[in-house]
Amino acid sequence: MTAKPHIAFKRLPVKIIGTGSYVPERRLTNADLEKMVDTSHEWIIERTGICERRIAADDEYTSHMGTKAAQRALESCGLTPEDVDLIICATVTPDTFTPSTACYIQDALGAKNAAAFDISAACSGFLFAMKTAVQYIGTGQMRTALIIAAEKLSTVVNWEDRSTCVLFGDGAGAAVLQAATGEEGEGAVLATDIGTDGSLHDLLQIPGGGSRCPTTVENAHERLATLAMRGNEVFRHAVAHMKESAQSVIERAGLAPEDVNLIIPHQANLRIINAVASRLSIPEERVFVNIEKYGNTSAAAVAIAFDEARRSGRFTKGDNVILVTFGAGLTWSSAAIRW
Ligand code: COA
Repeated sequence: MTAKPHIAFKRLPVKIIGTGSYVPERRLTNADLEKMVDTSHEWIIERTGICERRIAADDEYTSHMGTKAAQRALESCGLTPEDVDLIICATVTPDTFTPSTACYIQDALGAKNAAAFDISAACSGFLFAMKTAVQYIGTGQMRTALIIAAEKLSTVVNWEDRSTCVLFGDGAGAAVLQAATGEEGEGAVLATDIGTDGSLHDLLQIPGGGSRCPTTVENAHERLATLAMRGNEVFRHAVAHMKESAQSVIERAGLAPEDVNLIIPHQANLRIINAVASRLSIPEERVFVNIEKYGNTSAAAVAIAFDEARRSGRFTKGDNVILVTFGAGLTWSSAAIRW
């Protein structure tokens, strides 16, 4: 059988033109957690780097946080919701299983010209969404994409399990992408990478609440619809895959470690962040960290960090920025951007 000819076409370069983020007002400190489970501020700081995390109000849903981050991203680049063709929301804590959280956000924004869907890739979701948007724009199918990562992890945390409840928080981040028209640079997405090892799905999961193990009156007390993690093993895989994935986009973007002005890693554990940076030979001052304020907000973490780094001037025009994430699945993803 003869192989089908490969159809080559010119891809459009893609750039990020806006970012935004939102975190809920309520703070849950390590001191608060000391009153809830057998833990201490010292243990949490030393083992994770987290001081406090944000917790959404009961009537503040994932889509509400995602909408606020999206509005800020659109404002930052002067676009209106009607300009958006595509909305992709990365989340593991959707408002409802169906419709997707992206549908609620489309409605709340009034983005009536946009197709909208969710992506589920856990903490790696924001960069899975970015890569997907890059394909749609690069092939000329869509002009303007709004990618959002929003999580209300406080609804899937077992607040009696000290090994997980100290780690997670709520929040949302967003970015706007378009085809690059003028000269190269300013937000150009130089390279992206996504990867998965589904054989390790049981290291970090929400085992119940889906079709494998629906929540019933009989099993409700077992809290199967909450996060369960084998932390030590996840830690090891996180360091290895984040290093490899970041390295692959650094190389494919034609960069050396010394060309990287800022690396923005997934904010799961300060020790993971430091280990990844050290293996990539990127010094501490070129690593963005905000884990102390928000903990691990899953897909939203790297999106919030990216927006905060941009707004606080941690990277400026012409800088090479690397985003890298890791999460349940297992999944990992990276992007190299020239701002
Ligand atoms: N407070 C006090 N002690 C705690 C604790 C807490 N909140 N949580 C766990 N401990 C205890 C354990 O019970 C254990 O006690 P033992 O030795 O008596 O059995 C001890 O601390 C060490 O536990 P261990 O799980 O080995 O700690 P660790 O150094 O691996 O840190 C994590 C735990 C979860 C912080 C760490 O493994 C981690 O960050 N893993 C990866 C997380 C991650 O990346 N997740 C998401 C990817 S999105």
